[in-house]
Amino acid sequence: MSPADPDITHTRSSQLLPAARHWIAPSILSADFARLGEQAQAVLDAGADLIHFDVMDNHYVPNLTVGPVVCQALRRYGIRAPIDVHLMVRPVDRLVPDFAAAGASYISFHPEASDHVDRTIHLIREHGCRPGLVLNPATSLDWLDYTLDQLDLVLLMSVNPGFAGQQFIPSVLGKIREVHARIRASGRETRVEVDGGIKVDNVAQVVEAGADTLVAGSAIFGSADYAATIRAMRAQIARAEAAPGRSVR
Ligand code: DX5
Ligand code: ZN
Repeated sequence: MSPADPDITHTRSSQLLPAARHWIAPSILSADFARLGEQAQAVLDAGADLIHFDVMDNHYVPNLTVGPVVCQALRRYGIRAPIDVHLMVRPVDRLVPDFAAAGASYISFHPEASDHVDRTIHLIREHGCRPGLVLNPATSLDWLDYTLDQLDLVLLMSVNPGFAGQQFIPSVLGKIREVHARIRASGRETRVEVDGGIKVDNVAQVVEAGADTLVAGSAIFGSADYAATIRAMRAQIARAEAAPGRSVR
């Protein structure tokens, strides 16, 4: 383990994004919180690209997790990979500067949880992080109409937010296709991330639909061999990429 860098915001801003086209983002929600630093490093050593950091407030969602001090603790522990903060909190803005100072790389939020979506997006950017908008399974893509050109990430929920280990909702596949097409038409490099119920046996479908960033909590942390699970996911992703008719962007 390399020694911790006290200047964690520098760590974040100088960070390179993963070179792979598809990123695998294990969600800390399924990690052992008593050994979080070790577990985050273990999934990165096993081939993950970034750490998905789920923040729940028992208000916007009926569950409670961790805040900026834990993100900062991961940076101080020595985690160098991008940290993908998924805010399931209301209100949103109060936490943005704190997560930026704690070393967050991406900060995504649910538009229903912010009174001023455009302001929140700009706040995230002003604090040196990459903004993302998160759309629940029943949330309309209309939210992207006046925001997409400001976003670095669109996160489509494939479960209702709040808990790990839920079943993937297949109707989200159509939304992934639509978002992928809209981003392609925009010519931007915005990531298409999907979160909830992703496993080795359905990741290919999600990638075929156009996702490039795959959150997996229970599928990775619940497996006995993280590296073997991530390898199996990558093999499925490669299969999806090679599928006939797959649109290359
Ligand atoms: C759910 C969280 C997810 C969750 C995913 O609200 O946003 O990131 O941890 O867990 P799995 O992969 O187990 O569905
Ligand atoms: Zn999440």
